[in-house]
Amino acid sequence: MNDNVLELHDVRKTFTVDKNLMGRGTRHVTAVAGVSLSLRPGRTLGLVGESGSGKSTLGRLALRLDAPTNGHVMFDGKEITSLRGAALRALRRQMQVVFQDPYSSFDPMATVGSSVAEPLRTHQLLPRSAHQDRVAELLATVGLQPSHGQRYPQELSGGQLQRVAIARALACGPKLLVLDEPVSALDVSTQADVINLLTDLQRDRHVAYLFIAHDLAVVRHVSHEIAVMYLGQVVEYGAAEEVYTRPRHPYTQALLSAIPVADPVVQRARERIELKGEIPSPANPPQGCRFHTRCAHVMEICRTVEPEEYVGPVGVMARCHLHTHGPQLAGRSVTDLPMPQSESSSGRA
Ligand SMILES: Nc1ncnc2c1ncn2[C@@H]1O[C@H](COP(=O)(O)OP(=O)(O)OP(=O)(O)O)[C@@H](O)[C@H]1O
Ligand code: SF4
Ligand SMILES: [Mg+2]
Repeated sequence: MNDNVLELHDVRKTFTVDKNLMGRGTRHVTAVAGVSLSLRPGRTLGLVGESGSGKSTLGRLALRLDAPTNGHVMFDGKEITSLRGAALRALRRQMQVVFQDPYSSFDPMATVGSSVAEPLRTHQLLPRSAHQDRVAELLATVGLQPSHGQRYPQELSGGQLQRVAIARALACGPKLLVLDEPVSALDVSTQADVINLLTDLQRDRHVAYLFIAHDLAVVRHVSHEIAVMYLGQVVEYGAAEEVYTRPRHPYTQALLSAIPVADPVVQRARERIELKGEIPSPANPPQGCRFHTRCAHVMEICRTVEPEEYVGPVGVMARCHLHTHGPQLAGRSVTDLPMPQSESSSGRA
């Protein structure tokens, strides 16, 4: 039996945008270029990549806030790719989102208690007389007092307001939360508090998280699995521990090398892999491997032939010719070898 809460099958999203301010001509931007992922109940999939790699677009497709151009979205075993109207609205209570900037997620004119009650009003799950108690209960769940519910968003700190956003997302008992950079706008100590809160909530409620972040450090301690995105494609995907300790794709290696390691000996031994230049535009992606313009291992084949998804012996997928056509050492590709400078993993997988 299929027990995934979310499945994306070869999902694509192409936006058509005006070429100039006069609206003359159009161009196509493929933000998501064929992504397949799955997520089980109570698990966290960390989705990482640089700005513009298509993470938020993928999150919106998973929530069906946008419809894919191609491919299939399955939620709780049901095809929801073309769902519309009342059926889609009914599903929304089971899938919620928390965004990066809590201040832009709330109506500044409404008390936060009223905002937390908003999904209860929309989905009419409880009689109105029960809303106040439910809001107090939700605020307590995220470590706030009932009195916080009477305040306005601008009267709370960023960390407190992000807790309120989580309370609102939990109001209707969702099965899936898309967390789109939920701690990026917070200071470091508050980030840790919110991440610990999310971990506790998942343990108690068995909710699945699609956790979007720019860098691997943020998702490291919360993710069971990691998907690394580059220019609309997932280039590496597998158990968090494997991806952290033996990254297969040169892009993942570069992202990981930028994370400071607590152990100074490991840190000194570690080679910093500079990512040259900017991520190219998805309106005009490079031919062959999309990463070839910035890759330190680029080979001739990379400039013309797009690498296929290759799943290695322990189930990690990497989209890179090094694993199929590339240099081999003792029968194993060079990137499949253990990296001596890697820190031992503390991923949750
Ligand atoms: N509605 C839209 N119309 C046109 N292009 C879009 C639209 N939404 C996203 N894009 C483009 O798709 C690409 C991916 O955008 P997306 O916001 O998904 O990236 P991201 O990985 O979330 O980036 P960030 O880390 O900055 O949030 C970008 O080039 C963006 O300009
Ligand atoms: S396919 Fe080639 S260019 Fe792309 S990541 Fe692998 S080695 Fe680098
Ligand atoms: Mg984004």
